Amino acid sequence: MDRKKSFLLKGHICYSDEKKKLHIKPNSYAVCKDGVCQGVLEEIPQEFAAFEVKDMGDALVIPGLTDLHAHAPQYAFRGLGMDLELLEWLNTHTFPEEARYTDLEYAKKAYGMYVEELKKSAVTRAVIFATLHVEATELLMDLLEESGLETYVGKVNMDRNGGRNLEEASAQVSAAETRRWLKETQGKYRHTRPILTPRFIPACSDELMSELKDIQQEYHLPVQSHLSENPQEIAWVKELCPKAKSYSDAYFQAGLFGGNHPAVMAHCIWVDEEEIQLMKEQGVYVAHCPQSNANLSSGIAPVRTFLEKGVQVGLGSDMAAGSSTSILRAMADAVQCSKLRWRLVDSEAKPLTFPEIFYMGTLGGGSFFGKVGSFLPGYAFDALVFDDSSLPQPRKLEISQRLERFIYLGDDRNIMCKYVNGERVC
Ligand code: GUN
Ligand code: FE
Repeated sequence: MDRKKSFLLKGHICYSDEKKKLHIKPNSYAVCKDGVCQGVLEEIPQEFAAFEVKDMGDALVIPGLTDLHAHAPQYAFRGLGMDLELLEWLNTHTFPEEARYTDLEYAKKAYGMYVEELKKSAVTRAVIFATLHVEATELLMDLLEESGLETYVGKVNMDRNGGRNLEEASAQVSAAETRRWLKETQGKYRHTRPILTPRFIPACSDELMSELKDIQQEYHLPVQSHLSENPQEIAWVKELCPKAKSYSDAYFQAGLFGGNHPAVMAHCIWVDEEEIQLMKEQGVYVAHCPQSNANLSSGIAPVRTFLEKGVQVGLGSDMAAGSSTSILRAMADAVQCSKLRWRLVDSEAKPLTFPEIFYMGTLGGGSFFGKVGSFLPGYAFDALVFDDSSLPQPRKLEISQRLERFIYLGDDRNIMCKYVNGERVC
């Protein structure tokens, strides 16, 4: 047994189960053995009597949060261009900024700032886009590895429509660069893993998608991309892929839409019933990014339908289209967006509940990494301990109310400590 990664964390413990039920266990012990959760207990049984007890007093303990979709190179310009729509925002802010990542000094500065913020945040795991540049992507992976957080990181592929400074010369060059990146990072990290990252259909030729399918099969990589975010973007995909039945079908026909590999698609706002069925069959995850969807006036995703149909849903910051990196904020925004959808779009789609968004921010997104995001036995011991005493309150609240208020009102300053696989990271 690894004594450093075996202990009991005492506090008010809150977590979801696979059915999205929220469990609240006041004054209990979350048991960590060799970095793996053994469950939550009210008393310490003989079996764990020798374990160190880390007593967190009146603090709340929850599973770490997962950011299922973020763009590390966009950290530097978050908060700018928030009055634009997707394609204009990409061309005027995003692509010129990402083109800077040929400059490793710049990359080191900007990525350093992002990783520092992520480390102090409520996030323990993240699925991240870098840029198309191999060296800067490796630098980002080095920084994330040092942080102790668990991440998937993607070198972005794009061989068309990126403008003069953000485009790979051909599908073959993009594929060769991807293989070089995979070779150079293979076996190098404990916490940092590669994920195949075609930016979105408008930026990837059919030839490139075919190259990426070969790489996926050779390296057995998961895939991340964007799907059905904006009406103009969707019309463009229709023109670019006349043979595809839908935007989802364009990825499916390319062999990059789940099935034999994990896949996560950001947004999925305008998908139709057939696409939702395909996502369910292929086990494709939705990264729901409510702040981004409001900022770029992209629309309101049908999250209630995803949940009812059994499609996997987690939350993403989509920083910098979401100006905040916070998944606490994403949880609150997901409720707000669902209420607007119910009021304005679909009176049958009941707004999301607090237990549902808590599930999405923890176990929903965490399960992309395997058994992650809960304190059920067998789950990775990722924990966030927070002190909410700075949120003034004249009367005594229930633990569940304190949890809900922390999600809405709390921030990094309330975080006392954070564990990933039983190792303390901040
Ligand atoms: N679609 C293609 N690239 C991007 C991006 O960087 N952000 C968002 N929100 N959507 C995209
Ligand atoms: Fe995005």
